[in-house]
Amino acid sequence: MRVLSGIQPTGRFHWGNYFGAIRQYIALQDEDESYYFIADLHALTTVRDPEVLRQNVHDAALDLLALGLDPSRATLFVQSDVPEVSELCWLLMTGAPMGLLERCHAYKEKKAKGLSASAGLFTYPVLMAADILAYDSDVVPVGEDQMQHIEVCRDLAASFNHHFGEVFVMPKGKVLDASAKVPGTDGEKMSKSYGNTLEVFEETGPLKKKIMRIVTDSRPMEDPKEPDDDHLYQLYSLFATAAEREEMAALYRRGGFGYGEIKQAVFAAADAYFAEPRARRAELAAQPEKVREILADGASRARKKAGEVLRRAQEACGLK
Ligand code: ADP
Ligand code: TRP
Repeated sequence: MRVLSGIQPTGRFHWGNYFGAIRQYIALQDEDESYYFIADLHALTTVRDPEVLRQNVHDAALDLLALGLDPSRATLFVQSDVPEVSELCWLLMTGAPMGLLERCHAYKEKKAKGLSASAGLFTYPVLMAADILAYDSDVVPVGEDQMQHIEVCRDLAASFNHHFGEVFVMPKGKVLDASAKVPGTDGEKMSKSYGNTLEVFEETGPLKKKIMRIVTDSRPMEDPKEPDDDHLYQLYSLFATAAEREEMAALYRRGGFGYGEIKQAVFAAADAYFAEPRARRAELAAQPEKVREILADGASRARKKAGEVLRRAQEACGLK
């Protein structure tokens, strides 16, 4: 079985990205074969500063490696290092119905807000389909919000296969654990667009400050509280063992504590949890050549596979 997924390098990864996506991708690296890439071509639809994009791609590679992605088990590469994917994207584009793309949410939402969209945003799902089909992927783990794009990919593959013969392997989406939804510092879903994030590789000082500023309710200290409704408790639970969670839940139900104590516990737990990745990241950051080698090796393995699939598709539609 071949697993593939991509992540956009649009900024520093936050706890939501880690628990909701990255941790779960990494857990799948022991499948027969796994491919993970940094989707810089997709990011180009929003990141328009070349230095920022370059930096984001490098940071994303460091982050993923530091968090446990193992290049000896998984193929890690940068999307644009595999030009075969962009070629395959064109082949798929010629058979992609406008109506299908008009219904896709990223484009539809932008249009609904009266904003003008680029052709890149409009055809974003076709590039994503090329990413998936280029490696004969069987399983694509993604967040719930990306499932529509997997359906588009399946539609495009089915119609290409119907017209030109069996070229593409039909992939399946695998929705990541939705219960892993992480709240932000304001209690809403943690997201870059809400400005309520806590970053995985935040420095200790700023992290502590951000945690101490988390919004809490103003009920009296002695009131008992329901832990599951509280975002501080939910954040603590990301890092705590079952026994620690139980103990904290009991404290909530009993009442008689200040939120300052809980914030301190969240900070201590997060700091300890990410200590090892942080050390690994610092080590890797000092060896940019090693990171370049890992990505070059990943790209060469990925190109080999994508080249085979592209040739199959070209022959089928009369290009070779
Ligand atoms: P953002 O909302 O910050 O822009 P992205 O949309 O780039 O984040 O998310 C990348 C991945 O991380 C997606 O697969 C998404 O499902 C996951 N993710 C993002 N925020 C959260 C969250 N708060 N809880 C769980 N998963 C999340
Ligand atoms: N669109 C995905 C996201 O924003 C990233 C992505 C690009 C992707 N190509 C992919 C994910 C192919 C899975 C498979 O999260």
